[in-house]
Amino acid sequence: MPTVNCIILVNICNNNIKLCLIYKALLFILPIMKKEIVDFLIIGSGVAGLRATIELADYGNVVVVTKERPAESSTEYAQGGIAVALSDEDEVGIHFEDTLKAGDGLCREDAVKVLVEEGPERILELISWGAEFDKEGTKLDFTIEAAHSRKRILHAHGDSTGKELERVLLKKARSFPSVRKYPFALAIDMIVRNGKCFGAYVLSGREVISLLAKVTILASGGAGQVFSRTTNPAVATGDGMAMAYRADALLEDMEFVQFHPTVLFAPSAPQFLLSEAMRGEGAILRNINKEQFMEDYHPDAELAPRDIVSRAIISQMVRTKSKHVYLDLTHMDGKFIKNRFPRIYATCLQYDVNIIKDLIPVSPAVHYMMGGVKTDLDGATNIRGLYTAGEVACTGVHGANRLASNSLLEGLVFGARAGRAALDYSFKNELTELSSRELNRYLMHNDYQSLILDFGETRHSMRKLMWERVGIIRCGESLSEARTKLEQWSYILNKNVLTRPEIELKNMLTVAKLITEAAYLRKSSVGAHYRSDYPKKGKRWMKHITLSKQEEGVRCEFAGK
Ligand code: FAD
Ligand code: SIN
Repeated sequence: MPTVNCIILVNICNNNIKLCLIYKALLFILPIMKKEIVDFLIIGSGVAGLRATIELADYGNVVVVTKERPAESSTEYAQGGIAVALSDEDEVGIHFEDTLKAGDGLCREDAVKVLVEEGPERILELISWGAEFDKEGTKLDFTIEAAHSRKRILHAHGDSTGKELERVLLKKARSFPSVRKYPFALAIDMIVRNGKCFGAYVLSGREVISLLAKVTILASGGAGQVFSRTTNPAVATGDGMAMAYRADALLEDMEFVQFHPTVLFAPSAPQFLLSEAMRGEGAILRNINKEQFMEDYHPDAELAPRDIVSRAIISQMVRTKSKHVYLDLTHMDGKFIKNRFPRIYATCLQYDVNIIKDLIPVSPAVHYMMGGVKTDLDGATNIRGLYTAGEVACTGVHGANRLASNSLLEGLVFGARAGRAALDYSFKNELTELSSRELNRYLMHNDYQSLILDFGETRHSMRKLMWERVGIIRCGESLSEARTKLEQWSYILNKNVLTRPEIELKNMLTVAKLITEAAYLRKSSVGAHYRSDYPKKGKRWMKHITLSKQEEGVRCEFAGK
């Protein structure tokens, strides 16, 4: 029987003692374990998870677990568009070359080949399912973003490309009676025995459900929330990476975190993205003194790779002692801007910034994780029965820096591939049922009464630490400081908690440690990883860093290309 308890939390912050009474009785108590058996389990309902779902839906029942409403994801907020070599002036080979160049020598070329070659088919399929990309007359309209040598970015409703993708994919997934969505359900751990995945433990309300599946696809997105300044939605807490790590999966390239140069910086405004497509259409960066500066840093000026633009902005902010620079569209046609960027125009107005008339205050923020759970070209991990796709995965397709607008395409291409590979796996492997007794042990081992007393303060301090010490410009000293501080919070990783915010904090701490560890190890600068104490690339560093769990902390291996 559930037991009821009431906990008094004494929370000391800013020398004020706050007495917080938390009546845990209202929340929960001893969790209850339920068991469900499905053919295919998908964790996440962004572009990658939904595309995988569609691939599997004809072959058995598919359950899609997602921690918020189904559309809530990074996909939903994607603005600029989706890159694909479909225009008359473009070629798959040029898209391939641009992707390798942006990846700064660390892309896995076979993965890039798959991305650019299968991309056009995935987009045409999406259009056949009802996706409405913007057109110029009767032809698809392609725009340009940083480091693309051709106009190849498709966009929808101006700046709502991700929303259109979610709409179409959700509609398509809903058309299969075999697909069941499980919203507001948080995957908390993979069920793994002897290197084989049997599904996941999922928290739904007060219940823990053992969702047993023949095969599981992890498509839980990125981890931007690990940093205090990010474009990512609240769901991006790196759960998938942390769960996979706990289950002994390999993680790769975790130090490669992409920073987006232009994120709204206004008092009381959210960290709202100002799409790179704005610079693609002619927007200019100016420092606080209203001087243009990008030409001093790169021949491609405003359209230089993101890492270069972000560092240029930081150096201007330092030089002029300011907290932001400006994005300037005032020289552009107002009507065009309203049509081309309707969502950005309307959102900025809400925060008293008129992008047609005002200089827009911007500064960089964390945007995308190039690293993640190491997979092959079919999304297979080192754990049998566990596949991954999308931002949580690391196929090596982005190398050390992602080419703009390649990630939605990655979600489609590798989501579909992971779906197909998972299907093959399911044909060859019968579901092995685990007994309820065996599954219940997960809860028996745990004392779920414990709370992280300094939860709010730790979360805040950790995110700030990651931004300030493991951010755009890193060095041995800043990384050592971050490692020491993160180690002090390690006790939290041993706590058995069963509320969503606490589980997410544990996951964020795990991911923070992995990013910091890899950034500390890589004594060179490449792509988005910049070390001021090792500003050169260095040939011997042209390799990947793979991390895995060990009794005594993180095990690291270097892998060639
Ligand atoms: P997501 O779309 O993030 O979906 C992850 C899903 O997993 C969500 O449904 C989430 O709720 C669920 N989830 C997470 N953890 C759990 C858990 N523990 N249990 C259950 N469910 C869980 N890329 C481009 O190519 N072009 C763009 O124009 C572009 N613009 C962007 C703009 C913004 C503001 C942001 C944040 C990103 C942008 N990106 C863009 C990047 C791109 O949107 C993402 O990389 C991509 O959408 C990731 O897709 P995904 O399916 O891997 O993950
Ligand atoms: C943007 O619109 O600037 C984001 C594009 C991306 O992240 O690929």
